[in-house]
Amino acid sequence: MNEKDASPVVNGLLLIHKIITRGLTVSLQKCEEYLENKAVPASEAAGFTTFVSTLTKVAHSHHLSEDEISFPYFRDYLEAPFDRLMEDHQSISHILDRIGRYLPDLTKDEITGLHDTLKEFQAMWVPHIQIEEENFTVQKVQERVSMKDQIVIAKKMAAHGSRNSGPGPLALPFLFYNLEGMDRDTFMKSFPLIVRKILVPVIWKSRWEPMSPFLL
Ligand SMILES: [Fe+2]
Ligand SMILES: [Fe+2]
Repeated sequence: MNEKDASPVVNGLLLIHKIITRGLTVSLQKCEEYLENKAVPASEAAGFTTFVSTLTKVAHSHHLSEDEISFPYFRDYLEAPFDRLMEDHQSISHILDRIGRYLPDLTKDEITGLHDTLKEFQAMWVPHIQIEEENFTVQKVQERVSMKDQIVIAKKMAAHGSRNSGPGPLALPFLFYNLEGMDRDTFMKSFPLIVRKILVPVIWKSRWEPMSPFLL
């Protein structure tokens, strides 16, 4: 067992941060490419809109699950600037709403607006997760939170996430395929076999396939 496996809560936190960070980076890179070419290719428009919209839902859902599940619990056991982190969640939530408003019709002006708003998200996101990852380390969480409680929190976070991340046929492939290698294997392990082997890769594939140029 490696160190990360030892804390289901920290492991889950690091992986969802990786997923959102990659989703955000790809969205920004694609906006830059589209601006350079002065348009979104027709073959990518629907998939890109779905990708960015799913990114906003997954990010919002992650923040809700921190506000409602992990932070209230951690407050009793760990030191961290919880109020600042929760204020960041509020500010980011407004930015995510603004991102969503650019998506229905991606003209050149809308892509510029989308790009600038994604940059605002990134400017808050990067320091925000740095604070979380410095305060909620494997060592601190292992020392102060029992394994029994960590398993309960990790399960509650996963259930909460699946209720709030938008439709499963889009949210799950977004989560799975913004990760690769061991990270993907570790993340997917917590989902039932039918979801990993049949629903996402086969039954739901036509729903999420337009997003595939942006996924790993
Ligand atoms: Fe957060
Ligand atoms: Fe977080």
